[in-house]
Amino acid sequence: MHARAATAMTTALLGTAALLLPATDVRAVEDGTPPAIIAHRGASGYAPENTLAAVDKAARLGAVWVENDVQRTRDGKLVVLHDDSLRRTTDVEQVFPGRAPWKVKDFTAAEIARLDAGSWFGSVYAGARVPTLKQYVRRVDLHHQKLLLELKNPELYPGIEQETLKLLGNEGWLDRKHRSRLVVQSFSAASLRTVHDLKPAVKTGFLGRPPMADLHAYAVFADQINPSYAAVSRAYVAAVQAFTGPHGRPLEVSTWTVNTADAARLVAGYGVDGIITNKPDVVRDALRE
Ligand code: G3P
Ligand code: CA
Repeated sequence: MHARAATAMTTALLGTAALLLPATDVRAVEDGTPPAIIAHRGASGYAPENTLAAVDKAARLGAVWVENDVQRTRDGKLVVLHDDSLRRTTDVEQVFPGRAPWKVKDFTAAEIARLDAGSWFGSVYAGARVPTLKQYVRRVDLHHQKLLLELKNPELYPGIEQETLKLLGNEGWLDRKHRSRLVVQSFSAASLRTVHDLKPAVKTGFLGRPPMADLHAYAVFADQINPSYAAVSRAYVAAVQAFTGPHGRPLEVSTWTVNTADAARLVAGYGVDGIITNKPDVVRDALRE
């Protein structure tokens, strides 16, 4: 096929991928041995972050877990995007030139649905959209993947914890089977406490590195402590894992963002439970060596 025709076909497929893609069964490549490998914003080293294309790429690479970032539109819809502004990862400046600083919270879901969230990454991804959270969890489910869902900037969106849990419940993600495939994480301890109080059965992860002396307080509402990999050590990981979390199991550590084989081997040697990476294949290959 001519390259341009192939590109056009790929672009078309991205729009209707849920109908056309085979449902990759990533359970087939999971052996359950820690550390879990978590595709950060999807396989964002290879596809535009936080898009359905990045979920699909993660599935094709055999990544059982994907991580995403959830925020809220002006009309109250939950969408998947990292920055609080649409500027970096969409064409919002061209489509809505008079709307600086292009904050997610200032746009309706219909406006955001018009934006191209793929071209900034590569022309083959032109036409990729900012997914709604509903679209996103359906795609993750299609691939039988697990979800590390980050509540991003929850201080900007009062009530987003309850709304996120409601959507997850409506989509079946709070039933017993799905709950084992879900962790809600945030840099906001207050937000995680709210999630834990609203739905104690849901696992939560605190993003950051609390002092060891404070870990007992986090163990009341958080199942995971998830620090930057530059901030962890074997001693810190062991200290976290010595605590029992709210579900009666040892606290876990997933660390980010690990994109090289050397870093993957280093943190695996620390005994972490999860490695969050833009390149799940690089981490997988490093751990297999
Ligand atoms: O999952 C960890 C990581 O996503 C936290 O940082 O800025 O990429 O959301 P950030
Ligand atoms: Ca994130």
